[in-house]
Amino acid sequence: MQLQMAKKKKEKKIVAASPRLEGTGIAVPNEATEATSRYPDVYFMHKTGAMADWERLGDRRILFRGAQDASLLVEVYSPEVIRFRYAVSAPFSQEPSYALIEPDQEERVLFEIKEAGNFITISTGKLKCKIAKIDLQLQIYDAESGQLLLEEAVPFSARSTIMNGLEYLKVSLRARTGEKYLGLGDKTCPMDLRGHALQNWNTDSFGYQKDTDPLYRSIPFYYSLYKGKAYGLFLHSSWKTHFDFDATGAGVTAFWTEGGEMDYFFIYGPELTAVNRRYMDLTGKPELAPLWALGFHQCRWSYYPESRVRELAAEFRERSIPCDAVYLDIDYMDGYRCFTWNKDYFPDPKKLIADLKKDGFQTVVMIDPGIRVDPDYEVYKSGTEQDVFCRRPSGEVMTGPVWPSKCVFPDYTDPRVRAWWADQYEEMYADQEVSGFWNDMNEPAVFKVNHLTFPDHVLHHYEGFGADHRKAHNIYGQQMSRATYEGLKKHQPEKRPFVLTRATFSGGQRYAALWTGDNIASWEHLRLANIQCQRLSISGFSFVGTDIGGFVDVPAGELLVRWLQLAVFHPVFRIHSMGNNVDGASEAEAEMVQEAERLNRLDQEPWAFGDPFTDQARTAIEFRYILLPYIYTYFQRASTLGDPMLKPLSFFDQTDQEALKRESEFIFGDHLLVCPILKPGTKTITTYLPKGEWYDFHRATPFIGGQKVRLRTRPDRLPVLVRAGSVIPTYPVQQYTDELEIHHVGLRAYFGSLDESLWYVDAGEGYDYREGGYRLASFSTVATEKGFLIRQEVTGDFQPTATAYRIKLFGMPFDALSLKVDGAETHFSQLPLKVLVVEIPLDFGEMEVLF
Ligand code: NOJ
Repeated sequence: MQLQMAKKKKEKKIVAASPRLEGTGIAVPNEATEATSRYPDVYFMHKTGAMADWERLGDRRILFRGAQDASLLVEVYSPEVIRFRYAVSAPFSQEPSYALIEPDQEERVLFEIKEAGNFITISTGKLKCKIAKIDLQLQIYDAESGQLLLEEAVPFSARSTIMNGLEYLKVSLRARTGEKYLGLGDKTCPMDLRGHALQNWNTDSFGYQKDTDPLYRSIPFYYSLYKGKAYGLFLHSSWKTHFDFDATGAGVTAFWTEGGEMDYFFIYGPELTAVNRRYMDLTGKPELAPLWALGFHQCRWSYYPESRVRELAAEFRERSIPCDAVYLDIDYMDGYRCFTWNKDYFPDPKKLIADLKKDGFQTVVMIDPGIRVDPDYEVYKSGTEQDVFCRRPSGEVMTGPVWPSKCVFPDYTDPRVRAWWADQYEEMYADQEVSGFWNDMNEPAVFKVNHLTFPDHVLHHYEGFGADHRKAHNIYGQQMSRATYEGLKKHQPEKRPFVLTRATFSGGQRYAALWTGDNIASWEHLRLANIQCQRLSISGFSFVGTDIGGFVDVPAGELLVRWLQLAVFHPVFRIHSMGNNVDGASEAEAEMVQEAERLNRLDQEPWAFGDPFTDQARTAIEFRYILLPYIYTYFQRASTLGDPMLKPLSFFDQTDQEALKRESEFIFGDHLLVCPILKPGTKTITTYLPKGEWYDFHRATPFIGGQKVRLRTRPDRLPVLVRAGSVIPTYPVQQYTDELEIHHVGLRAYFGSLDESLWYVDAGEGYDYREGGYRLASFSTVATEKGFLIRQEVTGDFQPTATAYRIKLFGMPFDALSLKVDGAETHFSQLPLKVLVVEIPLDFGEMEVLF
């Protein structure tokens, strides 16, 4: 290997006569001359400068040493994925990652390095990465077409100061005209991030607004889409990170982290969907949830005492409104002591939980990270004995107010503490049989201080590598939900855990579902809910939902219904509201709640607004249960392939310019186009149908895509369209997910030709599916002038209770003359509008309608 020595690195030295600091890229804030001058602080700039030499390290790493004080480590993960790391004056860190999953084995990737003229080029077959020797500036090209995908606007730089150490490490890229940016987790701004400057710093954001940033979670991963080709960029840093998507219009998109290393992954597609899958391969996929977790859930701050919980459950059943879970918010605890029960309100929790379960209700309870300081409280005592709480540099344990006025906080970045935390769940999960846990306030939130969280100086174990809170903050909630998830796995290994978390970080999808925190009961927030869930879904978190109806304030009946109708397509399907709690709210917020209380309108159950809203709410919830097999199928795809369950239209057709502009309609699964109604009194809406043929899901009216269409709306449902050729599995309405033994599975098939429609089914709980205990039916359809054919191929050996399909065929262009199932004539009924109905065995191979 040829080593090239560039300009010799100058030594840093301080010249006594002058405050000017000499050496590589070092500067002072001004040109003061007195020897004795002192400054509040002095900063230093860091760069790689020209390449000093390069060296191949092992199979996939190449180290470029800079002539100045930074170096670049390039790691080729696959032909499409390259990691770039810059370290300043320090060796590259060996720390384990909280975001990445450990691959079973490091794959050997074949790539070439060529040194020619002023550049070194790394070629992977799919990508060409050109690195300029003069300053290590990068350009990345599509190897086949030669299209420039990413280009640095200026070389990497970093800044440190004497007082603060490293302040930022920054990469700046050219933002090309027409380049769009998507993703970045939980942001409320429009889908295209261009023009926005955003941060990642997990923040308790009670009653957040459309411009509030940052919110509760950090997912520093975005997509770029330019000239039809997409790549993803994952900034692998747990520090506070910043993204400026050409906010000033100067044609530069920059991102920086406030400490550690600059460490990012370039993830090529060129399809957005391929970028997503590669990001999910890096950061992991969610486990399959228990089926009940996809049912409807009812929550409120708080349902207590026990009699109220029982009444609530009974009312669902009396009113025949399906529901799978009720939640207990903080008031079930004894004085906000996590893992305890208020015995006045809940004298026998085990019995209550068992009774609810008999009636088809799972119980989910809240657990916060703030542990009450109380020498008589078992969790505090054992935590203190085992030294699990976060400390300040002085050694003092960090205390702060959350619900109890004095709390201590476990350090979840320590494996020993995670194991201790996991064990706290044993009694509630294994003995009392609580079904799921809801981890809240884990940004971590601290009351009373403007900073809203721990001070920066709080120390964390960070897997033995040590860190202060600046570095551990963004992963605190993720590691809390991990410890919870590990606890549930440990104490009921045969059950699939259900953990809901508020704060998290990239990779946290492996442990918990998310809800979007303390939103507001307004139409504006319904619009935000739609954007947030789509965006979180393409950022790794398909298992997401919002507080339906709004957490703060009270919705009108119409708003609650429209929200429920949208949330049918949000995997977490839960009504939640703050009820009459004003603790922790600002004065203005408290007034709002009191006003609502005055109007006696604080309830947010599906029946709270009377008729016609109760019936409409029931219809919406019933629709969720009808679509359950379809929803579960796409959950399984998210869990095996990492595919987002909700897809903005850009993910359906990234070449369609109109689709790229749309934010309201989205694709759910692979076949349904959902058109939310986001304004009161909407009588008609204009929606854009991507190219192809579509049908109205309910009435089977056909539409040609690639154009906008105007649709009449109904109060009791949203317009939902379905791709021609789709076969959609449905179940009968149930009051909870395993209420009925299902004998017939519905299939709604829409005339057209399509390669694949799926129905996945398994036991809905447990892990047998990992040993083949599942059934995956794949349907393909062929539509011609002579007939319509559905083929089924099945894998897996799970035997569902159903033995037959009840098929409804829509959109047939002609009257059917005959229908054959695996060659045998079969009786069918022909309804008006040429709808055919037929019942056929579950194990059919081919069904053909002849015109
Ligand atoms: C804040 C959470 O975001 C909210 O959902 C919950 O009801 C309250 N904490 C009380 O626990």
